[in-house]
Amino acid sequence: MKGVVLAGGLGTRLRPLTSITNKHLLPVYDQPMIFYPLQKLAEAGISDVMLVTGGNSAGDFLRLLGDGSDFGLNTLNYAYQTKEGGIAEAIGLTKAFVGGDKFVVILGDNILEDSLEQYVETFRKQENGARILLKEVSNPRDYGVAEIEGDRIISIVEKPECPVSNYAVIGVYMYDDYAFEVIDALKPSARGELEVTDINNAYLSAGKLMADIIGGWWADSGSSIDGLLQAGIRARELRVGRKI
Ligand code: DAU
Repeated sequence: MKGVVLAGGLGTRLRPLTSITNKHLLPVYDQPMIFYPLQKLAEAGISDVMLVTGGNSAGDFLRLLGDGSDFGLNTLNYAYQTKEGGIAEAIGLTKAFVGGDKFVVILGDNILEDSLEQYVETFRKQENGARILLKEVSNPRDYGVAEIEGDRIISIVEKPECPVSNYAVIGVYMYDDYAFEVIDALKPSARGELEVTDINNAYLSAGKLMADIIGGWWADSGSSIDGLLQAGIRARELRVGRKI
């Protein structure tokens, strides 16, 4: 199982903090934001990871993260995204690295309380297809939202005006190599991006999308200044709590 961390994009919602740097290098409590998703992959037993980034600060990731051995990784590989073409475009850049393996994608601004280990283990045993993670939220309009019937997903809509549920699709996606076929055929959305929600809906149409609802807290630290602050407070609780 390979791992992919996405750290591209413009971070416009966090300006002026991101005017001269990449948002994933900003502090979340006592660590750069990018440390958290890397730690989650390592903790789940994934040791070969590719980080996708872009823009002027790309070299800073190499200086900060090096070969990934500080995180216990076997290899840390890098890809450069030349424009902000969307999450699905960024995932497409990892095709040669992933090869025919299954892989876990984590968005570089997503911070989670719980370990991903149990979900990754379930996905290892899943014959093929995709697995996504859901979390009940009070502001579903800001996310991809899943319509659920029993334990089945009916549809996923990206940032809906009128959400049909409170279940946000969080930024952890587990795929087999069919994802790259889907990405090759994707067309840009109205906002000019290749959307991860379109990958998930392609798996859904093929009857190959599974989902778990996560228990612990989840923070999208890149969504707003308040989101960044909240993530810092929660990260502090987690880390200080652990120290005690
Ligand atoms: O956080 C979960 C949400 O993330 C999901 O519920 C949504 O379905 C999904 O579209 C995404 O929404 P965001 O609006 O939060 O995406 P954002 O543009 O903030 O990008 C998320 C991460 O992906 C961010 O860490 C940077 C990376 N990214 C983004 C773009 C657009 C790239 O690496 N390249 C890109 O071109």
